[in-house]
Amino acid sequence: MDIFVVEGGRRLEGSITVGGAKNAAVAIIPAAILSGDICRIENLPTISDVSVISQILVQLGAKVTQISDSVIEIDAREVNCTQVSQELARNMRASYYMLGALLGRFSRAKVPMPGGCYFGVRPIDQHLKGFEALGAKTGLRDGVISLTAPDGLKGARIQLDVVSVGATINLMLGAVRAEGLTIIERAAREPHIVDLANFLNSMGADVRGAGTETIKIRGVKEMHGTTYSIIPDQIEAGTYMIAAAATGGDVMIQNIIPKHMESISRKLVEMGAEVYEYDDAIRVTRSGPLRACNVLTMPHPGFPTDMQPQMAVLMSIAEGVSTITEGVWENRFQYVSELVKLGVDAEVQGRVATFRGVERLKGAHVKATDLRGGAAMVIAALISEGETTIREIYHIERGYEQLIDKLVAVGAAIHRRTVPNDYE
Ligand code: UD1
Repeated sequence: MDIFVVEGGRRLEGSITVGGAKNAAVAIIPAAILSGDICRIENLPTISDVSVISQILVQLGAKVTQISDSVIEIDAREVNCTQVSQELARNMRASYYMLGALLGRFSRAKVPMPGGCYFGVRPIDQHLKGFEALGAKTGLRDGVISLTAPDGLKGARIQLDVVSVGATINLMLGAVRAEGLTIIERAAREPHIVDLANFLNSMGADVRGAGTETIKIRGVKEMHGTTYSIIPDQIEAGTYMIAAAATGGDVMIQNIIPKHMESISRKLVEMGAEVYEYDDAIRVTRSGPLRACNVLTMPHPGFPTDMQPQMAVLMSIAEGVSTITEGVWENRFQYVSELVKLGVDAEVQGRVATFRGVERLKGAHVKATDLRGGAAMVIAALISEGETTIREIYHIERGYEQLIDKLVAVGAAIHRRTVPNDYE
């Protein structure tokens, strides 16, 4: 297996260019089959989640051509299968977007229960409730979700009981070709929901209100191919912003939409970092000490849950006592016990983690417990004295493109090493 080896204690300085947004890419690639035409998708991140979702399309009969590292062309004219294979689905959470995409195009879909990071129970009741409102029959047998709408899909008013990114996306996919008007209330407002709406509209759909709590979709009969460039990754950008602040560095993070970063920038400033905003870049630097702060994670425009493990690292070296209250997932603190191995002073009680700032962290053997927990390990390793090794890096590589190259370019000492599987 491969591990990351990090020699900590170096200040990051220079510039990092952020790639396309993972969570937009894994929704937009399935959406491409809605047209039965050719879509060219640009600014894709080179991460394993993008290759897995592309393989799912290939398994269904689409032709996916890699034009360059960040550009693919999806020819969905000959998609002829509506059942996703077990082994591909269990590799990632977003495989369930095939439910909405297949239902929208063929009025039927079979998709095994998805994999992805474990944050406690991850129900999909809101997705199913919405599909049923659109006229689909839903079933679950041997771990495979099935949807059928023999009489076609009909627009409906759907009020979600919880704000769910996944359900909002799936219902947008299911509704774009349904007959009549669909209204999704209490919709999620994340930047990638807006990006998906823009992509669908560029294929001829009629989606309005994305980015607000109410999305209105007027079903269209036909959709066509398009060329579309995905937005930059908010969470990748935020991760490097925190790495810059944690190491007391000075980093220009390029190719971002500063508006998407507001909740993160605000917290960094509160903690004592300096954040300068440009048209499509943000510079983060820090020379003074870090101060404690409190973070509550909430759906957008709140502080993103996908940034809380990285924030925890900053809190662990900030003067005073900081807390993170997790407002989205029931169990997202598995990574904390790994941070403790590096000398972090933390305590978790239910949905609240408390961090008492310490002066220094010390290198140790740790593992990535999930994607963003893994990013937190990397940042913690960068500020730990001596060497840290990080196992189970496949979690990290699901969502961060060229992490090593990007960090080395700004002065980090991090490399990949192949070790025996029983390496401790
Ligand atoms: C997406 C992101 C993930 C992020 C999360 C919240 C992708 C591929 N993943 O996950 O990185 O952490 O948004 O920003 O985009 N819920 C229900 N019933 C449902 C669906 C969700 O109760 O049918 C609950 C969940 O248990 C959770 C909350 O709603 O407590 C939010 O989940 P959701 O927004 O759906 O997360 P994902 O789309 O899975």
